[in-house]
Amino acid sequence: MYTTRWIAPSNIAIVKYWGKFDHQIPANPSLSFTLTHSHTDTKLTVIESKTTQNDDPTLEVFYDGISKPEFQPKILKFLQAILNEYPWLKGKLLKIETKNTFPHSSGIASSASGMAALACCIEDLHATYFVGQPFRWHKASESARLGSGSACRSVYGGFVQWGHSSDGEGSDFFATPVQEVHPNFKTIYDYILILDSGEKSVSSTVGHSLMKNHPYASHRFKQGKENTVKLKAILKTGDWRRFIELMESEALTLHAMMMTSTPPFILMKPKTLEAIQKIWQFRQTTNLPIGFTLDAGANLHLIFTADALEAVEQKLLPEVQYLCEQNTIIKDLIGRGPFKAD
Ligand code: DP6
Repeated sequence: MYTTRWIAPSNIAIVKYWGKFDHQIPANPSLSFTLTHSHTDTKLTVIESKTTQNDDPTLEVFYDGISKPEFQPKILKFLQAILNEYPWLKGKLLKIETKNTFPHSSGIASSASGMAALACCIEDLHATYFVGQPFRWHKASESARLGSGSACRSVYGGFVQWGHSSDGEGSDFFATPVQEVHPNFKTIYDYILILDSGEKSVSSTVGHSLMKNHPYASHRFKQGKENTVKLKAILKTGDWRRFIELMESEALTLHAMMMTSTPPFILMKPKTLEAIQKIWQFRQTTNLPIGFTLDAGANLHLIFTADALEAVEQKLLPEVQYLCEQNTIIKDLIGRGPFKAD
């Protein structure tokens, strides 16, 4: 019996991954930063089972101590995708005990942190017990990608790129950390305004397939490629205005893609638009580096640096908190990436 436990945070994309080809190859590169508090904590126990070495692994999955057979198909599909890399998984019984620090309804990507945590657990057991070699972060990222694209970015801390870009950097197979980041962006916050928790966001399966035959697909993929290179230049120079302009354009383009797909989806709610107006007004009057991004849902991610922290806490939050369900705001910030627990 082998066991390990890893904690992996979720991430928030500034340049969005929206559209993919077979084998989880992204249609354009994406760039995110990894969070700190919104994470998945996963304990993996690998047990020799009575099945033969050629069989797929079998699973027992517990979320917060409660058996979750409904999680099995997605995890099994993930394990089948990584069996070539980790053949010792064949015929084993895997007990997965997992929990998140954030609510399911928050719009924080639990598949990103969940698949990253599991990929790190498997690479760790591989390195420690099966081959006796150092932990390979790029392999953990590559496996995580096969579970969920955005998960490959959660294997690293700080700002992270996934997908090759025209400057010759990045890979479609695994994520890589962005090396040059100006001190302005070293501490960056993500406060998630829970504007509509009941709302169903577009699932990633539906979302990515919307880009197949989308009338604006080729332009969008080109824009995503250009924005990745532009964003890295901005991260180097520390230009906050351009960062916000690019980030908000990416978020609104993501939603524009959904609104103009067949069938169309409108995921923003009246409160999302109200909160955006408040943020824009606040930025205009204070001139502070505060902007927003959105994922495939209604909740708004308020993104700002340390310079704006006091003003956000004291002046902006009182203006937007009443819009949030039960006044809920999840407060997070950039972090260092996954780590082994215990
Ligand atoms: C809008 O990574 O969830 O959050 O690869 O199908 O699991 P799959 O998709 P997923 O898509 C994330 C979409 C997004 C943008 C992003 O995180 O880049």
